[in-house]
Amino acid sequence: MSERTPFIVGNWKMYKTVMEAREALTLLRVAVRDVNGVDCGVAPPFPALDVCADILAGSHIALAGQNLYPEDEGAFTGEVSAPMLKAVGATHVILGHSERRHLFGEDDALIARKVKAAVDRELVPILCVGETQEQREADETVAVVTTQLSRGLAEVKGAGLPNLVVAYEPVWAIGTGLSATPGQAQHVHALIRDFLGDLLGPTNAAQIRIQYGGSVKPDNAAELFAEPDIDGALVGGASLDPDSFAAIVEAAAR
Ligand code: 13P
Repeated sequence: MSERTPFIVGNWKMYKTVMEAREALTLLRVAVRDVNGVDCGVAPPFPALDVCADILAGSHIALAGQNLYPEDEGAFTGEVSAPMLKAVGATHVILGHSERRHLFGEDDALIARKVKAAVDRELVPILCVGETQEQREADETVAVVTTQLSRGLAEVKGAGLPNLVVAYEPVWAIGTGLSATPGQAQHVHALIRDFLGDLLGPTNAAQIRIQYGGSVKPDNAAELFAEPDIDGALVGGASLDPDSFAAIVEAAAR
């Protein structure tokens, strides 16, 4: 049996004003209060981080940024740094999300710098990887995912990274309602863990939590979490409603 505590993170993307975030998180905090054996967190939009940190004070819910820029400060209009995220109370940061890669043109070299900036500032990176529909159909899933991992981790290789979180998010499953089957996801998660073993050593690989992301809902969560290498989820749409997010957290509780 796995020693890894499941980790469920709600990626709120560009949803929720400060007021809406306050309302949702207040409900969520109560809803997951008595759930044991699972870690959870939320990644609100930047303007809501401060208010969310206040609401989460004293709870076990982690606060995550959705992105960062890999310099501490400077003339980078529109960007937010790792020290800024730390200062507001974030402990984690989502990096390399497919929306960043595809809509905002982020490449693996930039993502590697972001991962290094996070690690240097003691933020836990949640590094997202995943193939598009076309890549899956061309049998490129393994090549795409392992390339994203090795390039994304290129600047931190060798450093002890047991806290690293990897999220396998097949692009074709994000926001489509078409989740990977538990078997499809487990197949890639096992490959990712093997690859991390080669890259970072078997001890790190055994500790790293690999989340699945892509249309996770209360009604498909338990079967995904039953797979040995699926250590939780990065949840988009279903994390916006506190009850449905709490149901997913409960499904992961041992
Ligand atoms: P959905 O859960 O809405 O498919 O989004 C997944 C995702 O992108 C989480 O980061």
